[in-house]
Amino acid sequence: MIFYQLFEKESSTFTYLLADEASRHAVIIDPVLEMVDRDLKLINDLNLELTHVLETHVHADHVTGAHKLRKATGAIITLSAMADVDGADKFLEDGDIIRFGLYQLKGISTPGHTDSCMCYLIGNKVFTGDTILARATGRTDFQQGDPRKLYHSIQKKIFSLPEDTEIYPAHEYNGIPKTTVGIEKVHNPRIGGNKTEAEFIKIMSELKLSQPKKIEIALPANKKCGDTHV
Ligand SMILES: [Fe+2]
Repeated sequence: MIFYQLFEKESSTFTYLLADEASRHAVIIDPVLEMVDRDLKLINDLNLELTHVLETHVHADHVTGAHKLRKATGAIITLSAMADVDGADKFLEDGDIIRFGLYQLKGISTPGHTDSCMCYLIGNKVFTGDTILARATGRTDFQQGDPRKLYHSIQKKIFSLPEDTEIYPAHEYNGIPKTTVGIEKVHNPRIGGNKTEAEFIKIMSELKLSQPKKIEIALPANKKCGDTHV
């Protein structure tokens, strides 16, 4: 499989490009509007055909590049059926499959950071969005955030995967770009080390995070899949 982990500095967002070597069919996960030209050049350089733009959730910290990428490539904008958005092409339920060439991704519904959070599993890689990050979890203090739901999503849907499953998150934390299920089960300071639901909820309630800088721009735009012209 062709696989790129791409980065956008301002919002510390990872975008992932996955493609099938034979058919050249490709999917992109969590593109950032300001980086679409980079992504299109890479797709073009690699002679790929983008079939799907996948979102792990409705983001609050950056505007998605989904709309612009669809306009340029005809790719299908795909995200959780729980997402309250206009302009998507395909909505996924838990367990739904997205195929590109010989490969397939499985959508895993993981509400908690937002209702629309969906992770994507392929082989021993899982793209977790903001559900779980290296030594962190998504926040639960806005956008339908619910620490109880997040605790159970991580425990049941992510920590149940084989320990060597590689976790690729939506953001860089602590300078660590990827991690594994086994490492986070032990070292994640919020939910690792067999923390109880009550311990997790207490930690999440005491984070006192500031609002994302771009939330006033990003949320309305992302509710239109990144169409900023409407
Ligand atoms: Fe998020």
